[in-house]
Amino acid sequence: MTPKVHVLPTPDAIAAEGAVRIIETAARAIAALGRFSLVLSGGSTPKALYQQLTHLSKPFPWEKVHIYFGDERCVPPDHPESNYRMARQALLSAVPIPANQVYRMKGELEPHQAAAEYDGLLRGQFPQPKGADLTLLGMGDDGHTASLFPGTVALHETQSDCVANHVEKLNAWRLTMTAPFLNRSRAVLVLVAGAAKAQRLHEVLQGPSDPDRLPIQLIRPVSADLTFLVDKAAMEQNS
Ligand code: 6PG
Repeated sequence: MTPKVHVLPTPDAIAAEGAVRIIETAARAIAALGRFSLVLSGGSTPKALYQQLTHLSKPFPWEKVHIYFGDERCVPPDHPESNYRMARQALLSAVPIPANQVYRMKGELEPHQAAAEYDGLLRGQFPQPKGADLTLLGMGDDGHTASLFPGTVALHETQSDCVANHVEKLNAWRLTMTAPFLNRSRAVLVLVAGAAKAQRLHEVLQGPSDPDRLPIQLIRPVSADLTFLVDKAAMEQNS
């Protein structure tokens, strides 16, 4: 399955395009199922997209939206590094999503306990083969996505939907959705911006499959759309 790649001029244009795709996907999911499940990512490119979603020109049924997180740092929810905190500041505090429809990973707990709790939540809400309606991901310049980092144990997880993953180069634990769960999503949007990511993006899209080194290559949704929204700077090596 080959990912679709949509090139946009700037990171702001990625954010705008991402927002349009979220609105369209949500409208379809809500028409079909009465609800829309969206997995958020951390990172700077998604943050701009979240801000765009707070000033839509038309009314949006936020009360039918359910929010999940693809990964989390092992910190409390008010910590500057918390992905939940970023999403709350950029989006969740500004739109009327019911608080009990925002499912955060509990970075303040012991990592294995937090991961087991979130895994249980995902299993309850998304019994196989169900997955989220839409998943947003970023890509680090080392080829990681969510908190699936090169060479880490979580890359080989086949059973759990969410695990604790020790990342040696960060000397830290992370909580992350696993590739099997991410790949059950009905659609996946990967946001990649900036020249610093150009070389890695080229390897990911054009190079041989080497997911232990380039974990984002594990993302291959089973029956869905995988679209990369990338800016020109990140595409430099690819043209
Ligand atoms: C995290 C993320 C991570 C992120 C990439 C890209 O918590 O770090 O979820 O996977 O998406 O590192 O981040 P940028 O968009 O900031 O480059």
